[in-house]
Amino acid sequence: MARQRRHQDHFGRRAKREGKAARSVFKLEEIDERWQILSAGDTVLDLGCAPGSWLQYAGTKVGLSGHVVGYDLKPLDVSFPAHVEVRQGDAFEITTDALPARLDVLLSDMAPSTMGDHTTDALRSAALVERALALAEKLLKPGGHTVLKVLEGGEVPGIIKAMRSGYTKVELLRPDATRKHSTEMFLIGLGKKA
Ligand SMILES: C[S@@+](CC[C@H](N)C(=O)[O-])C[C@H]1O[C@@H](n2cnc3c(N)ncnc32)[C@H](O)[C@@H]1O
Repeated sequence: MARQRRHQDHFGRRAKREGKAARSVFKLEEIDERWQILSAGDTVLDLGCAPGSWLQYAGTKVGLSGHVVGYDLKPLDVSFPAHVEVRQGDAFEITTDALPARLDVLLSDMAPSTMGDHTTDALRSAALVERALALAEKLLKPGGHTVLKVLEGGEVPGIIKAMRSGYTKVELLRPDATRKHSTEMFLIGLGKKA
Protein backbone atom coordinates (compact mmCIF):
# COMPACT_ATOMS: atom_id res chain seq x y z
CA MET A 1 0.00 0.00 0.00
CA ALA A 2 2.72 2.47 1.08
CA ARG A 3 4.85 1.28 -1.85
CA GLN A 4 1.96 1.81 -4.27
CA ARG A 5 1.35 5.30 -2.86
CA ARG A 6 5.05 6.18 -3.30
CA HIS A 7 4.86 4.92 -6.90
CA GLN A 8 1.76 7.06 -7.57
CA ASP A 9 3.29 10.10 -5.86
CA HIS A 10 6.27 9.66 -8.14
CA PHE A 11 4.04 10.51 -11.15
CA GLY A 12 2.60 13.56 -9.39
CA ARG A 13 6.05 14.84 -8.40
CA ARG A 14 7.44 14.21 -11.85
CA ALA A 15 4.53 16.07 -13.50
CA LYS A 16 5.14 19.07 -11.24
CA ARG A 17 8.90 19.03 -11.79
CA GLU A 18 8.46 18.86 -15.57
CA GLY A 19 5.79 21.59 -15.69
CA LYS A 20 2.97 19.28 -16.85
CA ALA A 21 -0.61 20.33 -16.15
CA ALA A 22 -1.45 16.88 -14.71
CA ARG A 23 0.01 13.46 -14.01
CA SER A 24 -2.38 12.02 -16.66
CA VAL A 25 0.25 12.94 -19.24
CA PHE A 26 2.20 9.80 -18.34
CA LYS A 27 -0.75 7.63 -19.36
CA LEU A 28 -0.82 9.12 -22.86
CA GLU A 29 2.97 9.01 -23.04
CA GLU A 30 2.97 5.27 -22.24
CA ILE A 31 0.27 4.59 -24.85
CA ASP A 32 2.05 6.70 -27.48
CA GLU A 33 5.40 5.05 -26.81
CA ARG A 34 3.84 1.59 -27.25
CA TRP A 35 1.73 2.24 -30.34
CA GLN A 36 3.10 5.45 -31.97
CA ILE A 37 -0.24 7.24 -31.95
CA LEU A 38 0.93 10.83 -32.58
CA SER A 39 3.19 12.09 -35.37
CA ALA A 40 4.50 15.45 -36.58
CA GLY A 41 1.90 17.33 -38.65
CA ASP A 42 -1.11 15.43 -37.25
CA THR A 43 -4.55 16.96 -36.69
CA VAL A 44 -5.83 15.88 -33.27
CA LEU A 45 -9.05 16.27 -31.29
CA ASP A 46 -8.67 15.94 -27.49
CA LEU A 47 -12.01 15.53 -25.70
CA GLY A 48 -12.02 16.24 -21.96
CA CYS A 49 -8.77 18.17 -22.19
CA ALA A 50 -8.71 20.04 -18.84
CA PRO A 51 -6.41 20.76 -17.06
CA GLY A 52 -4.34 20.34 -20.23
CA SER A 53 -1.53 17.78 -19.89
CA TRP A 54 -2.60 15.72 -22.93
CA LEU A 55 -2.80 18.96 -24.94
CA GLN A 56 0.74 19.83 -23.85
CA TYR A 57 1.96 16.37 -24.90
CA ALA A 58 0.04 16.24 -28.20
CA GLY A 59 1.02 19.83 -29.07
CA THR A 60 4.69 18.96 -28.70
CA LYS A 61 4.39 15.71 -30.65
CA VAL A 62 2.51 17.17 -33.64
CA GLY A 63 4.69 20.30 -33.71
CA LEU A 64 3.99 23.59 -35.42
CA SER A 65 2.88 21.87 -38.65
CA GLY A 66 0.13 20.07 -36.74
CA HIS A 67 -3.13 21.21 -35.17
CA VAL A 68 -4.65 20.17 -31.85
CA VAL A 69 -8.17 21.11 -30.76
CA GLY A 70 -9.14 20.47 -27.15
CA TYR A 71 -12.65 20.53 -25.69
CA ASP A 72 -13.72 20.52 -22.08
CA LEU A 73 -16.70 21.55 -19.97
CA LYS A 74 -14.26 23.55 -17.84
CA PRO A 75 -11.99 26.45 -18.79
CA LEU A 76 -8.22 25.83 -18.78
CA ASP A 77 -5.58 27.91 -16.98
CA VAL A 78 -2.60 26.83 -19.07
CA SER A 79 -1.54 28.78 -22.17
CA PHE A 80 -0.61 26.95 -25.35
CA PRO A 81 1.18 27.72 -28.63
CA ALA A 82 -0.97 28.88 -31.56
CA HIS A 83 -1.35 25.41 -33.13
CA VAL A 84 -3.11 24.18 -29.95
CA GLU A 85 -6.66 25.51 -29.75
CA VAL A 86 -8.79 25.22 -26.62
CA ARG A 87 -12.58 25.39 -26.71
CA GLN A 88 -15.04 25.17 -23.86
CA GLY A 89 -18.07 22.98 -24.47
CA ASP A 90 -19.86 19.72 -23.96
CA ALA A 91 -18.81 16.83 -26.18
CA PHE A 92 -22.48 15.87 -26.55
CA GLU A 93 -23.27 19.29 -28.02
CA ILE A 94 -20.36 19.77 -30.40
CA THR A 95 -21.45 19.91 -34.02
CA THR A 96 -19.07 18.19 -36.37
CA ASP A 97 -18.88 21.19 -38.71
CA ALA A 98 -17.22 23.09 -35.85
CA LEU A 99 -14.37 20.54 -35.84
CA PRO A 100 -11.49 19.76 -38.21
CA ALA A 101 -12.96 17.50 -40.91
CA ARG A 102 -10.12 14.99 -41.25
CA LEU A 103 -8.56 13.98 -37.97
CA ASP A 104 -5.47 11.80 -37.69
CA VAL A 105 -6.09 11.11 -34.00
CA LEU A 106 -9.02 11.42 -31.61
CA LEU A 107 -8.21 11.32 -27.89
CA SER A 108 -10.74 11.13 -25.11
CA ASP A 109 -9.77 11.22 -21.45
CA MET A 110 -13.32 12.36 -20.60
CA ALA A 111 -14.50 11.27 -17.18
CA PRO A 112 -17.95 11.75 -15.68
CA SER A 113 -18.19 13.44 -12.31
CA THR A 114 -18.44 10.27 -10.27
CA MET A 115 -21.45 9.52 -8.07
CA GLY A 116 -19.73 6.82 -5.98
CA ASP A 117 -22.03 4.19 -7.44
CA HIS A 118 -19.86 2.05 -9.67
CA THR A 119 -22.63 0.93 -12.05
CA THR A 120 -23.84 4.48 -12.65
CA ASP A 121 -20.30 5.83 -13.06
CA ALA A 122 -19.44 3.05 -15.52
CA LEU A 123 -22.61 3.71 -17.56
CA ARG A 124 -21.87 7.43 -17.77
CA SER A 125 -18.28 6.71 -18.75
CA ALA A 126 -19.49 4.31 -21.47
CA ALA A 127 -21.81 7.04 -22.81
CA LEU A 128 -18.82 9.40 -23.10
CA VAL A 129 -16.84 6.76 -24.97
CA GLU A 130 -19.74 6.08 -27.32
CA ARG A 131 -19.98 9.79 -28.07
CA ALA A 132 -16.24 9.95 -28.78
CA LEU A 133 -16.55 6.93 -31.08
CA ALA A 134 -19.47 8.53 -32.94
CA LEU A 135 -17.33 11.63 -33.53
CA ALA A 136 -14.41 9.42 -34.64
CA GLU A 137 -16.74 7.62 -37.06
CA LYS A 138 -17.50 10.95 -38.77
CA LEU A 139 -14.20 12.80 -38.46
CA LEU A 140 -11.30 10.35 -38.26
CA LYS A 141 -9.41 9.64 -41.48
CA PRO A 142 -9.05 6.04 -42.63
CA GLY A 143 -5.88 4.79 -40.93
CA GLY A 144 -6.41 7.20 -38.00
CA HIS A 145 -6.14 6.20 -34.36
CA THR A 146 -8.24 6.73 -31.26
CA VAL A 147 -7.43 6.53 -27.53
CA LEU A 148 -10.42 6.37 -25.18
CA LYS A 149 -10.61 6.23 -21.42
CA VAL A 150 -13.39 4.08 -19.99
CA LEU A 151 -14.34 2.86 -16.54
CA GLU A 152 -14.73 -0.91 -16.30
CA GLY A 153 -18.34 -2.01 -16.57
CA GLY A 154 -20.89 -4.11 -18.38
CA GLU A 155 -20.91 -1.91 -21.49
CA VAL A 156 -17.20 -2.32 -22.20
CA PRO A 157 -17.27 -5.69 -24.04
CA GLY A 158 -19.89 -4.29 -26.46
CA ILE A 159 -17.79 -1.17 -27.04
CA ILE A 160 -14.71 -3.30 -27.77
CA LYS A 161 -16.73 -5.45 -30.17
CA ALA A 162 -17.95 -2.35 -32.04
CA MET A 163 -14.39 -0.97 -32.17
CA ARG A 164 -13.10 -4.27 -33.60
CA SER A 165 -15.35 -3.86 -36.61
CA GLY A 166 -14.18 -0.27 -37.20
CA TYR A 167 -10.44 -0.53 -36.55
CA THR A 168 -7.68 -2.82 -37.83
CA LYS A 169 -6.56 -3.50 -34.25
CA VAL A 170 -7.97 -2.75 -30.80
CA GLU A 171 -5.72 -2.76 -27.74
CA LEU A 172 -6.49 -2.34 -24.03
CA LEU A 173 -4.14 -0.85 -21.47
CA ARG A 174 -4.16 0.03 -17.83
CA PRO A 175 -1.22 2.46 -17.72
CA ASP A 176 1.36 2.49 -14.91
CA ALA A 177 0.24 6.00 -13.92
CA THR A 178 -3.35 4.87 -13.27
CA ARG A 179 -4.15 5.00 -9.56
CA LYS A 180 -4.39 1.62 -7.83
CA HIS A 181 -8.08 1.90 -6.91
CA SER A 182 -9.21 3.37 -10.22
CA THR A 183 -11.31 1.19 -12.52
CA GLU A 184 -10.17 3.10 -15.59
CA MET A 185 -8.62 1.53 -18.62
CA PHE A 186 -7.82 2.76 -22.10
CA LEU A 187 -9.16 1.41 -25.36
CA ILE A 188 -6.88 2.06 -28.29
CA GLY A 189 -8.29 1.80 -31.80
CA LEU A 190 -5.48 1.53 -34.34
CA GLY A 191 -5.96 2.10 -38.07
CA LYS A 192 -9.56 3.11 -38.66
CA LYS A 193 -10.99 1.04 -41.50
CA ALA A 194 -12.05 2.91 -44.65
C1 LIG B 1 -9.37 13.25 -16.26
S1 LIG B 1 -9.85 14.82 -16.82
C2 LIG B 1 -8.87 14.97 -18.28
C3 LIG B 1 -7.40 15.22 -18.04
C4 LIG B 1 -6.67 15.66 -19.28
N1 LIG B 1 -6.55 14.58 -20.25
C5 LIG B 1 -5.29 16.15 -18.96
O1 LIG B 1 -4.34 15.46 -19.31
O2 LIG B 1 -5.14 17.22 -18.40
C6 LIG B 1 -11.45 14.54 -17.46
C7 LIG B 1 -12.11 15.74 -18.07
O3 LIG B 1 -13.27 15.33 -18.80
C8 LIG B 1 -14.11 16.45 -18.85
N2 LIG B 1 -15.46 16.08 -19.33
C9 LIG B 1 -16.34 15.25 -18.73
N3 LIG B 1 -17.50 15.19 -19.44
C10 LIG B 1 -17.31 15.99 -20.54
C11 LIG B 1 -18.14 16.35 -21.63
N4 LIG B 1 -19.40 15.87 -21.76
N5 LIG B 1 -17.66 17.20 -22.57
C12 LIG B 1 -16.39 17.69 -22.44
N6 LIG B 1 -15.57 17.40 -21.42
C13 LIG B 1 -16.02 16.56 -20.45
C14 LIG B 1 -14.10 16.95 -17.41
O4 LIG B 1 -14.54 18.28 -17.33
C15 LIG B 1 -12.61 16.75 -17.03
O5 LIG B 1 -11.90 17.95 -17.13
